[in-house]
Amino acid sequence: MSYEEKTKKYIKAKKLKEKPQIDLRYLKDERETPEKLFLDLDREFNFTLDPCCTEQNAKCKKFFTKKEDGLVQDWSEDVVFMNPPYSAILTWIKKAHNEALKGATVACLIISDTSTTYWHEYCLFGKIRFIRGRLKFGDNRYPAPFPSVIVIFDQEIRQHESQLILF
Ligand SMILES: C[S@@+](CC[C@H](N)C(=O)[O-])C[C@H]1O[C@@H](n2cnc3c(N)ncnc32)[C@H](O)[C@@H]1O
Repeated sequence: MSYEEKTKKYIKAKKLKEKPQIDLRYLKDERETPEKLFLDLDREFNFTLDPCCTEQNAKCKKFFTKKEDGLVQDWSEDVVFMNPPYSAILTWIKKAHNEALKGATVACLIISDTSTTYWHEYCLFGKIRFIRGRLKFGDNRYPAPFPSVIVIFDQEIRQHESQLILF
């Protein structure tokens, strides 16, 4: 191998090493939904409420930020798009499930993690659309280090039943 080839190989290996395996911005709660994914779903559902957002990343005219606290609001009259803060997915999924029992339709964009309590206690009773590949949220440079799923709670929702398999 020539000196030039060796140098090129070294630079390539160095670049690969520098590339982060996980983009740390994914650990934050402000992960904006990819525009195309939202628009495709909005065409189908005609969302009326974004219950968890900032004024900057709100997806609907009607929205709740931390100030109003979406968790204590009524969603029952709305068609809701929910991309919750990942620091509290269980709390938000439980709220979405309860609001659907009162009349709301809620499409939830969450991490596809079948090992979690939120999956077994709530998501299994919704309609599940697995997303192939990994999403790139907001202005992140790299795709998310986790798979995503859309879970829809609507009027065909079943009451909560425990599906946990204990081992
Ligand atoms: C994953 S981001 C989703 C933002 C936007 N809805 C979207 O789909 O791009 C979650 C958002 O929930 C907001 N949030 C956190 N706690 C909240 C609360 N209690 N009530 C309303 N919004 C909240 C955060 O500020 C953040 O903007």
